Amino acid sequence: MTEEDVTRKRVREILTEFKDHQGALLIALLHIQYELGYTPEFAVEDASAILGFSQPEVWGVLSFYSDFKIGKQGDHFIDICVDGPCHIGGAPGVRRALEEAALDESNKFEVRAISCPGICAKAPVVAVNMRYHGDMTPDKALELAAKLD
Ligand code: FES
Repeated sequence: MTEEDVTRKRVREILTEFKDHQGALLIALLHIQYELGYTPEFAVEDASAILGFSQPEVWGVLSFYSDFKIGKQGDHFIDICVDGPCHIGGAPGVRRALEEAALDESNKFEVRAISCPGICAKAPVVAVNMRYHGDMTPDKALELAAKLD
C-alpha cells in the first residue's frame, strides 16, 4: 500500500465518520485539513461520492475558506499569522527569517500566510504543522524550523 493509498483510506474514513452530521461537508473537510495539514485533491471526488455533494460544491467550500490548502507541497508547513496584532508584533520579520530558511532547506517546509486564528494575545503567532506557538521571534521560529525532520 502506497503512502497515497494510506492517506486516501484515512480521508474516506473521516468523510464516512461525518456522513450523517449536519454541516458534514465543511466539518469533514476541516478534520481532513487539520489532521493532514493540507487537503488532498482526491478529497473532492471522495467527498462528493461519500457525502452526496457535487464536485463543484466541494471545490466551492475549499476555495471559499482560506484555511484550506489544496495538495501537499512541502514536507512540513509553517503558517504565520499576518493580521494586524501579529503584524504589529513582528510577524514580517519572523516571516522573512522563515522564508529565507525555507529556501536553504528546499522542500523541508513551506511557509504560508494565514489569517488570525484568534489567539492574538500571543501575537505574533506561527503554527508548525497546525500546532500553534505564540510570542514568536525570528530566532524562536528558526529553532522550531530546525527541529523538523
Ligand atoms: S492577529 Fe494573529 S493571532 Fe490574531
